Amino acid sequence: MRYIGGKSQLLADIEAVIDENVSGRECVFCDIFSGTASVARYFKPKYEVLSNDILHFSYVIQKATVENNAKPMFDRLSKIGIADPVKFLEETDITGAEHGCFFVAENYAPNDHCNRMYISSRNAVRVDFIRNTIEAWETLGLIDEMEYYYLLASLIEGVPSVSNITGTYGAYLKEWDKRALKAFEMARLDVIDNGRANRSFNEDANKLILDIEGDILYIDPPYNSRQYAPNYHLLETISRYDRPEIRGITGMRPYSDIKSAFCVKSEVLEVFEDLIEKAKFTNIVMSYSTEGLMTSEQIESVLRRHCVESSCKRYNIPYRKYRSRLSGNTKAPREYLFYVRKDIPRAAVFTPSRVERVKPRTKRAKYLKSPLNYIGGKYKLLPQILPLFPRQAGIFVDLFAGGCNVGINVNADRIICNDQNTKIIDMFILFQQTDAEAILSRIDENIQKYGLSKYNEMGFVDFRNYYNATGDPIDLYTLTCYSFNYQFRFNSNLEYNNPFGRNRSRFSENMRDNLIAFIERIKTADIVFSSCDFEEFDTSTLGCDDMVYCDPPYLITTGSYNDGNRGFKDWNKEQETLLYALLDRLHRQGVRFALSNVLAHKGARNEILLGWSRKYIITEITNDYSNSSYNANRGKSVEVLITNY
Ligand SMILES: C[S@@+](CC[C@H](N)C(=O)[O-])C[C@H]1O[C@@H](n2cnc3c(N)ncnc32)[C@H](O)[C@@H]1O
Repeated sequence: MRYIGGKSQLLADIEAVIDENVSGRECVFCDIFSGTASVARYFKPKYEVLSNDILHFSYVIQKATVENNAKPMFDRLSKIGIADPVKFLEETDITGAEHGCFFVAENYAPNDHCNRMYISSRNAVRVDFIRNTIEAWETLGLIDEMEYYYLLASLIEGVPSVSNITGTYGAYLKEWDKRALKAFEMARLDVIDNGRANRSFNEDANKLILDIEGDILYIDPPYNSRQYAPNYHLLETISRYDRPEIRGITGMRPYSDIKSAFCVKSEVLEVFEDLIEKAKFTNIVMSYSTEGLMTSEQIESVLRRHCVESSCKRYNIPYRKYRSRLSGNTKAPREYLFYVRKDIPRAAVFTPSRVERVKPRTKRAKYLKSPLNYIGGKYKLLPQILPLFPRQAGIFVDLFAGGCNVGINVNADRIICNDQNTKIIDMFILFQQTDAEAILSRIDENIQKYGLSKYNEMGFVDFRNYYNATGDPIDLYTLTCYSFNYQFRFNSNLEYNNPFGRNRSRFSENMRDNLIAFIERIKTADIVFSSCDFEEFDTSTLGCDDMVYCDPPYLITTGSYNDGNRGFKDWNKEQETLLYALLDRLHRQGVRFALSNVLAHKGARNEILLGWSRKYIITEITNDYSNSSYNANRGKSVEVLITNY
């Protein structure tokens, strides 16, 4: 895509400046004004990449090509006979009976009440059809989040090739350019897999900078007063498809909320200085035009003020290297590249060479499942959580292990699964020490002796009484298999009190297989079980190769483990604050941590967590793209993973 200030011609120069100045151990690269994402994509093979832009259509392209690590398979569409969705979208006959609005055809192509000539009517109808179909597929669950962004980005990237414009959407041509009369084609985008947990954002750079950190920050802000939002308004509207109230000859959407202060002479220095001051990146590289609103002296003075003064360098990129479209013109803009190093307080930065992320696995990846159905168990979220963990750890501590879904699925030299619930931990220890055959025979004997089935409540109650009198952990496991929701629940005397799972719960073949796989894993991996309060767990010996994962009870949701009924310690604000203090300590110690939690749930917000977590990295754990902003969806639950790396 041709883009004002696009850097596709300058990539090798940016790389040369980076390579000349960095140590070679850098891991996290951020392209904070990403535009077409050309820079982010270029550096993806080398680094874990963060990308961002205030424009939504840029974000869509970033999600598809930067955050995404594989060309989507479209399995669910294939199952209903759509093996090649791009072909389907480009070629399906449009009858006129389709549902959905046809906003582009109605407002940007000539028709009875519109003279605008941005796009031919035929192509506009095709764009609307594709946009509506992508949305419908998503709503029907026929595509996942990455498939959605991939198709949307392929649509957006295809639009400029048939747009009747000279470069931007600030105006359309009054005669049809022959490109605009070609049939619309989506762009089949290339996606490379760098095996890292790249992330894309759609925020104001000065706001985002508070929440991210890394090794190399690339800054490519607008350099003159041409705002991007009005110049690319049609792409923004196709991306958001929010039927805005458009105005004027060009059909401009409102853009006051995405206006850039970098395009305003009286504001640019202040926002630039704010960005540099707040940046938690060791190396900063910036491109800027020689004809920009800020002079090179102003830029250097800001960089020197907030960074290591002596490290500041300016590179002038000669004309022949940076050919603008005006290259015949001797006044063609030249480009500066600035480099500066920033000394960041040690505790605030994670030594990047230690961060190696796992290759994100698809949802279909097979993870081991705990034999226990533990409330808040993380089995279903493993595809989102595990790719955010380092590929390998020395010691991995699952501090609130519960059913151990996380602990049994990580790679580490040693895994410690801890939980204050001694009943569970004792059960796992026994599983680890006992032959699998013997465990299964004991379960089968119990089933036979008490006639356990999903209909026999009397047998269940008898067996529960027997267990409460004898307390054998394998019997406890058998009991949960016939209990309501397969759950663990004790009264304050630590007697099992979960009711019968009428018509539903039984020890199925599936559960038998899970149990066998679980037992095998805890016997073969170096897994140690421990059952103490998290405050008493000794973390003092952990170091930079180690990792602590915490999945504590959530303060603002109610699970039966924090309703005071389980005989184990209750979770309250005091516990929550003590846990944050522990995590801060681990951070200072150089130990990586990840915390699962919810920031908001059914209208309630965890204000303590919202305040504390700002200094770390917050990743939303969701499949639902419409839930991607917790501010906008107050009613929904916002599940997050907070990491210090
Ligand atoms: C010079 S362009 C970047 C071009 C990009 N490097 C490329 O090669 O395509 C500047 C980008 O900054 C974005 N932008 C402007 N102000 C912003 C802000 N305050 N926060 C985030 N992005 C902003 C614009 O939307 C535009 O895409």
